[in-house]
Amino acid sequence: MDLSLEDLEHDARHLIGEMAYAYYSGGADDERLLEENVAAWGHWQLHPRVLAGISDVTTTTTLLGTQVTSPVGIAPTAIQGLAHADGEVATARGAAKAGALMILSSLATCSLEEVAAAVPEAPRWMQIYILRDRARTVELVGRAAAHGYGALVLTVDAPVSGLRLREWRAGVHLPDDLALPNLAAASTESAREGGFMAVVTREFEPALTPDDIGWLASLSALPVVAKGVQRADDAVRCIDAGAAAIVVSNHGARQLADAPATADILSEIVDTVAGRAEVYVDGGIRRAPDVVKALALGARAVLVGRPSLWALATGGSDGVATLLQWYRSELLRTMALCGAASVDHIDRSLVRRASGWALEAGPA
Ligand SMILES: Cc1cc2nc3c(=O)[nH]c(=O)nc-3n(C[C@H](O)[C@H](O)[C@H](O)COP(=O)(O)O)c2cc1C
Repeated sequence: MDLSLEDLEHDARHLIGEMAYAYYSGGADDERLLEENVAAWGHWQLHPRVLAGISDVTTTTTLLGTQVTSPVGIAPTAIQGLAHADGEVATARGAAKAGALMILSSLATCSLEEVAAAVPEAPRWMQIYILRDRARTVELVGRAAAHGYGALVLTVDAPVSGLRLREWRAGVHLPDDLALPNLAAASTESAREGGFMAVVTREFEPALTPDDIGWLASLSALPVVAKGVQRADDAVRCIDAGAAAIVVSNHGARQLADAPATADILSEIVDTVAGRAEVYVDGGIRRAPDVVKALALGARAVLVGRPSLWALATGGSDGVATLLQWYRSELLRTMALCGAASVDHIDRSLVRRASGWALEAGPA
């Protein structure tokens, strides 16, 4: 299947205009990590196994017990109404058509109820920010649990907003025809006046601790996934506190640009977690070989952020479905070429550090 993410991004930029493009594409600080997140997957090579005797390959897997057609899911990204008139509902329809997981941002421009009504049977999880006003988080969790969301994805890497200069300089804000229906009316006002960085500063709880994972887990029967972990010791703290899974993520390079690329920290975290929880990863994953590398390094699934926004902008729900089908068909090809019949056969032996890119060991 022929699909160019560069072309999708180029076309999306033309369609959505410079403000939305600045919001979606930008990163924190000097944006060095934006490129590194992508480049770091290239510092690993696949090491194919031949004579594997395989005629059938499958990408089907489970994420916290939920069956999905592919280990590629949609990362939670805010304000999808800037990309397409149907916003998150279109993304959810596309993911449902492809049989893939979608994680809905709590800063969505569609309500979680609308998304649930559009794809009642589809695998979907709800991303949560714990707010200073805890009662509002309690209410949001109740709504997510009542509408069939399968897990709560707690974002733990935003005690404050990263410094997103491109966003700031472009005057990114919520247009009058969009709202944030999963938060309070005051959040919509903040986002209209001060932009999205202002919502983070004013409304998000800055002083989270591992106890908050336990608190969130106590609000419903849903498993809690901690998203935004970058250190092995933090992964352990999250799991000890009750997280059922973690997402190794630097928020798509939007928080701290001097942090490591996720491709470089994944294996260390997986090894320390040692099977106690599922580990997913996002950041700079663009091609099917990146997905195989991530799985070989021990991730159970990957999430894609910006590629899904370009697909949404250019093709609505069909665009998102096509993107996910492209990942799946190229994943089938890459797995066949590597001698892996299923995701369970993608092991560490299939990946090697490319020469010249020795991996620094983390602190003991
Ligand atoms: C425009 C945009 C908005 C985002 N909004 C959220 C959000 O609301 N909650 C969250 O946990 N992560 C958010 N993220 C981070 C993504 O979930 C994900 O970690 C990141 O996009 C993955 O990197 P990639 O874009 O290189 O694939 C956002 C990312 C982008 C690009």
